[in-house]
Formats: sequence, structure tokens, C-alpha cells
Amino acid sequence: MPVVLISGGTGLIGSRLANHLIERGYDVIILTRRKNQLPEKSKISYSYWNVEKQILDKDVVRAADYIIHLAGAGVMDHKWTNDYKKKILESRTKSAELIIDCLKENEHQLKTFVSASAIGYYGADGKILERKDGFIESDLPPKDFLGETCLLWEASVEPVTSLGIRLVKLRTGIVLSKNGGALKEFKKPLRFGIAPVFGNGKQIISWIHIDDLCRMYCEAMENKYLHGSYNAAAPGPVSQKELILVLANRMRNKFFTPVHVPAFILKFVLGKRSIEILKSATVSDRKIKTTGFTFLYPSIESAINELV
Ligand SMILES: NC(=O)c1ccc[n+]([C@@H]2O[C@H](COP(=O)([O-])OP(=O)(O)OC[C@H]3O[C@@H](n4cnc5c(N)ncnc54)[C@H](OP(=O)(O)O)[C@@H]3O)[C@@H](O)[C@H]2O)c1
Repeated sequence: MPVVLISGGTGLIGSRLANHLIERGYDVIILTRRKNQLPEKSKISYSYWNVEKQILDKDVVRAADYIIHLAGAGVMDHKWTNDYKKKILESRTKSAELIIDCLKENEHQLKTFVSASAIGYYGADGKILERKDGFIESDLPPKDFLGETCLLWEASVEPVTSLGIRLVKLRTGIVLSKNGGALKEFKKPLRFGIAPVFGNGKQIISWIHIDDLCRMYCEAMENKYLHGSYNAAAPGPVSQKELILVLANRMRNKFFTPVHVPAFILKFVLGKRSIEILKSATVSDRKIKTTGFTFLYPSIESAINELV
């Protein structure tokens, strides 16, 4: 069976994707920094790596038919100090370099390398007000922390193409999942009947249902006509207020109170990370649709109804 090697595959996206791939008949090996706390009775294999110490088992890289690069320190997990910003960047770029160096130095059978990227690549909507369907893949990143991080992240995986390997990068929107991520955070106050509206609530969120994202990773692996960057976000981006109200209606059967959380409080609590919650980011799904990809959950209602 074809082997898929997933870096950072123990996280939100990777754990769902690994099961998805097993169901489709792939063998899955996950590169992880964890030596224990891994599920024992699993069809998934795990391989220890350590990017700082340059530890990576070359045999798992040589065995891989596909590599999916998801590893990276959580962007919202910690205050954006200079040290943590360096960690956000290097956990993605240095890890990619370690894998690619291993491919360069060893015989391998790799067909395709698929890397996560993020819609943080584009910055805020202000730049493209005249274009209604949002950022497209040829748009340039802004000179801000996330724009530059995504640019360098994508550049770090580019050298695989010089080895004759097909490369696909998925610029991912906010992933909606039952098991964590943004939806879990939105659900917490709703359990007490509070629907938080951040800032003016008008900021656009480009989101994707985790199962559509897993299907897009499979499409990137299996469809040899996919090359380069694709936005991975559903066709129905919504305002933050709309998202929270759809979720609240689904969870509380209308017994909830919208509570405005002013921007300055978010800035005080989250520091520079508040940008991620307050900015509008609309991305276009046009390019991925031209490949024939269809979304199972195109609207926020369809996604929330399935997830909650
Ligand atoms: N979730 C989203 O909404 C979203 C949106 C856009 C883009 N993305 C991107 O998609 C990728 C996967 O996202 P996710 O939500 O699944 O993230 P996640 O849950 O945080 O998982 C990422 C995995 O990366 C590994 N990792 C963390 N810090 C690391 C470090 N310093 N060095 C090497 N590996 C490290 C961890 O695996 P081990 O502990 O097992 O080593 C972790 O399980 C990330 O690169 C993320 O930026 C996610």
C-alpha cells in the first residue's frame, strides 16, 4: 500500500487526516517529537524526530510515496514574543529543510509533497476591496509577521521541485472541527448562553470544514494536475458575528445573548495576536474549484449542522 509520511500529524488536522488516509487504503507514518503518549492500538505508525538535533529516520523518508508537511508551533498558542515568532517560523521552515535534505541525500520514491500554508499569507481584505470574491493565489503577501512567515514557509518547501517532485501548498483558512481549534473556543462561552461578538463582528472569516480539508489533501496527493498554491477555504466565508449566531442557534435553540467584546480588550488580552481575530480575510475558492474539487460543506450552516 502507498505510504504517506505526515510531519506534525498528531495535531488537529493530522490526526483526522491520518484516519481519513487509512480508510482510503494508505499506510500512514507520523513524524512526531513525542516519544510516548501515543495511541498503542492504532493502524498508524509513529517515527520520532527532532528538528533542532537534526534527528530524522531516513528509512521512513525513503519509504514514503507522499509527504504531508503539517508540523509547526501553534500560531495562537503563545504571546508573540520575538522568541516565539522565531519558533513559529523555524518549526515550519527548518523541519521542511530537514526532510528535503534527507530526500536529497538518499534514494527515495516520493511522488508528491503537500505542505500546509495559511491564509495569513494575504493579510487583511483592505488591499483588495474592489475584488469581491477575495484573495487569489497570485496575490502578494504583506510585509507583516504572518505574511512573511507564510512566504518563507512556502519558500522552504520549494526545493523539492528541483528533485522532480510535485509540490502542492494549501493556504488554509480557519479549520472547523469537533475536536478542537477555533470552534472549540467559540463554543465555550456559548455553553453559558453568551455569544461573543469580537470588535464590530463584521470581520470576514474564511473557514473550512475539516473533512473538506482532508479531502483536499487527498486531492492534492492523487490528482497529478495540481501544482503550486491553492486556497483551502469554503466558498461561503462569513462575518464573525454571523458565524457565532449560526453556532449559537444550533447549540442553544435561541436562548443566548450576544455580548460585544471590544477590540481594545482583545488587544489587551491577546496582544498582537488579536489581529488574527479582528481582521477580515476573504479568500477565493476559484482555483481549487477549477480542478474539479467540490465542497461537502460549502455553507457555514451545513458545516455547523454536521459538527455540532
Ligand atoms: N487549524 C487551523 O485552523 C489551521 C489554519 C491554517 C493553517 N494551519 C496549519 O496547518 C498545520 C497543522 O495545523 P493543526 O491545526 O493540525 O496544528 P496543531 O494541532 O497545532 O498540530 C501541529 C503539530 O505540529 C507539531 N509541532 C508543534 N510544534 C512543533 C515544533 N516546534 N517543531 C516540530 N513540530 C512541532 C506537533 O506534533 P508533535 O507534538 O507530535 O511533534 C503538533 O501536533 C500547521 O502548520 C498550521 O499552521 C492550521
